[in-house]
Amino acid sequence: MSDRERDKHSGVETTGHEWDGIKELDNPLPRWWLIVWYICIAVAIVYWVLFPAWPTLNGYTPGLLHQSDRVNVANDMKALAAQRGVEGVMLEKASLDEIEKTPNLQAFAMAEGQAIFGNNCAPCHGAGGAGGKGYANLRDDVWLWGGQLADIQQTITHGIRSGDPEARMSMMPSFGRDGLLKPQEVTDLTEYVVFLSHRAASPGAVARAAPIFAAQCAACHGPEGKGNQLVGAPNLTDSDWLYGSDRKSIHDQIWFGRGGVMPAWAGRLSAAEIKAVTVYVHVNSGGSGAPAPAAAPTVASADTNPASAPAGQ
Ligand code: HEC
Ligand code: HEC
Repeated sequence: MSDRERDKHSGVETTGHEWDGIKELDNPLPRWWLIVWYICIAVAIVYWVLFPAWPTLNGYTPGLLHQSDRVNVANDMKALAAQRGVEGVMLEKASLDEIEKTPNLQAFAMAEGQAIFGNNCAPCHGAGGAGGKGYANLRDDVWLWGGQLADIQQTITHGIRSGDPEARMSMMPSFGRDGLLKPQEVTDLTEYVVFLSHRAASPGAVARAAPIFAAQCAACHGPEGKGNQLVGAPNLTDSDWLYGSDRKSIHDQIWFGRGGVMPAWAGRLSAAEIKAVTVYVHVNSGGSGAPAPAAAPTVASADTNPASAPAGQ
């Protein structure tokens, strides 16, 4: 190093490297830079000791803290499952009313219910539950079989005409197809149902059909046609139709007596799941479930003696 020379202008030693007459000065590294460098080294060493760092032949150095993102995620999942388990158990224990009135339980039931509905019910009832022809609309407060929490739970658990021994049952007879009524009577009754729903109908047909309705239909639909949730008979006086409001749809129903089938969910969904989806349906429908039939128009000459009607079912 004795052959090193000093730069004449700055007085700094050169390194001895020279390119085309340009010489390199041997300036020391700036102090701040060195300090940062040493800190980095220290931090790196501390990090290697505490955290997983170096690969080894059959794994890696785990570090003293045994920190692992993978384990953290697994723990988070376990905690979530435990939390859900707790809420699931609470759903099982709480009554439907309690679930609906307890904000965090309701929120949990709504989230679970939405997922269950999307997976199991939406194919028939539509993504939002708005239903379609023959498939009950679950978003309004009009109910075939009752809209109280317990009614909905019963419907979902055992189904409708599902074959389950406790299923909701009733069958409107096929009045036309089975020859129980003459074609003219079915046509007159179609007018009568149009009249019941507060629309213009042929007065002659309405007068002819009134006694037939009292005898054949009132047992299920009620003397005024307001329906009966015990037998799933729709209210015929409102503007809500399962099969359609036009004369052809009404005629078809009186002729064929279709009865919609809804599967039973007991055995496929747990009791807690059925409760969750029950609350989901109830809240989305507006949540009152009170039957609110519209007033039926009065028929001057109607013989509305329900005693003359056949026993339903
Ligand atoms: C295979 C088709 C189908 C599936 C799947 C289905 N439903 Fe239904 N559901 C029906 C039909 C059809 C009716 C109307 C039955 C009738 O005419 O009385 C109905 C009626 C109902 C009713 C009674 C409505 C009322 O007005 O009283 C409720 C509540 C209901 N479904 C809830 C559900 C829920 C919740 C699920 C999912 C767990 C579900 N349904 C899955 C076909 C289905
Ligand atoms: C044994 C009970 C019963 C009797 C009797 C009965 N119905 Fe029904 N009716 C029902 C049921 C249940 C439904 C709903 C069918 C379904 O849910 O798929 C229905 C549905 C209807 C509908 C369709 C309503 C809609 O919203 O689309 C009309 C219209 C109707 N009935 C008219 C009549 C007339 C008219 C008579 C008499 C000739 C009659 N029903 C007798 C049980 C009955």
